[in-house]
Amino acid sequence: MFKNNGKKTAISIASTACLCLLLVVLVVQHHRFGLTGANARQETVESAVDDNNKKGFSAYITKLSRGRREAHKPSRASDSKRDPAPAEDITADDIFIAVKTTKKFHQSRLNLLLDTWISRNMQQTYVFTDGEDEELKKKIGSHAINTNCSAAHSRQALSCKMAVEYDKFIESGKKWFCHVDDDNYVNVRTLVKHLSQYTHTQDMYIGKPSLDRPIEATERLGDNKMKPVNFWFATGGAGFCVSRGLALKMSPWASGGHFMNTAEKIRLPDDCTIGYIIESVLSVPLTRSNLFHSHLENLQQVSRPDIYKQITLSYGMFENKSNIINLKGVFSVEEDPSRFKSVHCLLYPDTPWCPPQVAF
Ligand SMILES: *[C@@H]1O[C@H](CO)[C@@H](O)[C@H](O)[C@H]1NC(C)=O
Ligand SMILES: *[C@@H]1O[C@H](CO)[C@@H](O)[C@H](O)[C@H]1NC(C)=O
Repeated sequence: MFKNNGKKTAISIASTACLCLLLVVLVVQHHRFGLTGANARQETVESAVDDNNKKGFSAYITKLSRGRREAHKPSRASDSKRDPAPAEDITADDIFIAVKTTKKFHQSRLNLLLDTWISRNMQQTYVFTDGEDEELKKKIGSHAINTNCSAAHSRQALSCKMAVEYDKFIESGKKWFCHVDDDNYVNVRTLVKHLSQYTHTQDMYIGKPSLDRPIEATERLGDNKMKPVNFWFATGGAGFCVSRGLALKMSPWASGGHFMNTAEKIRLPDDCTIGYIIESVLSVPLTRSNLFHSHLENLQQVSRPDIYKQITLSYGMFENKSNIINLKGVFSVEEDPSRFKSVHCLLYPDTPWCPPQVAF
């Protein structure tokens, strides 16, 4: 009698627990699908959710608690007021800056960078493109690298360029790899200062995620087997850096033709693939920094007194409205729609083409 009752109670508790778990999952699902995708990648995430739905609860719980942990983690160092003592004294020469572009944008985007921040950092900057350009070669010589990748903005073409960037960095022997896009302004002085907080032999992956949660992807294992994977990645559009120590560990998945194979395995773009190799394969967490900026965020939120502290800036157009930083600067918005010239004159007032500035 007693025994039977015990059994009943156990069953009842078990089924209540199951129901609760089911409800939790349903609420979570609803919440996830309720979020609207801000960019194409977000849509990739949503479609990847489908595959993952078939997987067990435990994966979900692990993922959710991890996401919550990550979300509450204060962004290390970048927000601290005082400057910590450098962990390693580096100079700009220790950094390999890869700028990804395409031939179509050599005139409209790249020239602006060459006239501004790249002009001060010729030795550490390499331009990865997809076509021959004699004008560009005249300006930067062997630092213009024709990847021979397709000029299409496809997942494969982007990964093809990232693969060449990685190989050239390894070949360079430099201590830090930093990737940016052709719509980024890089303040190399703050970049050097920021990276000096770490040593290049540490496993460091620094940047800014574009999503508010880890990306969910499906890894193809062969034999038609799939495995859900979740990881954070630094958005390529804001720029990110990887220490040499970590880059060397990435080699089996990133060097030679391996990067393309890895990208195919998870069917995600280049920057996601970097995140996958580092976070998912090597279990090294992304170190967030709010000093990196992409055109996917509201750039008006970068306040003028803080502009010189940022590592990267960007600009963009959305439905004919320009998304630019709020800087009065020495050039009007008509003369300098990206604001990069004004930023450059703020940082390097001795530039010959900068108008003389009133001292503050
Ligand atoms: C692209 O092709 C040219 C001509 O074949 C070659 O010289 C160059 O090394 C190639 N670039 C890369 C990154 O392999
Ligand atoms: C943007 O401006 C162009 C040219 O002025 C116009 O043809 C186009 O319709 C505009 N697009 C939007 C989304 O307003």
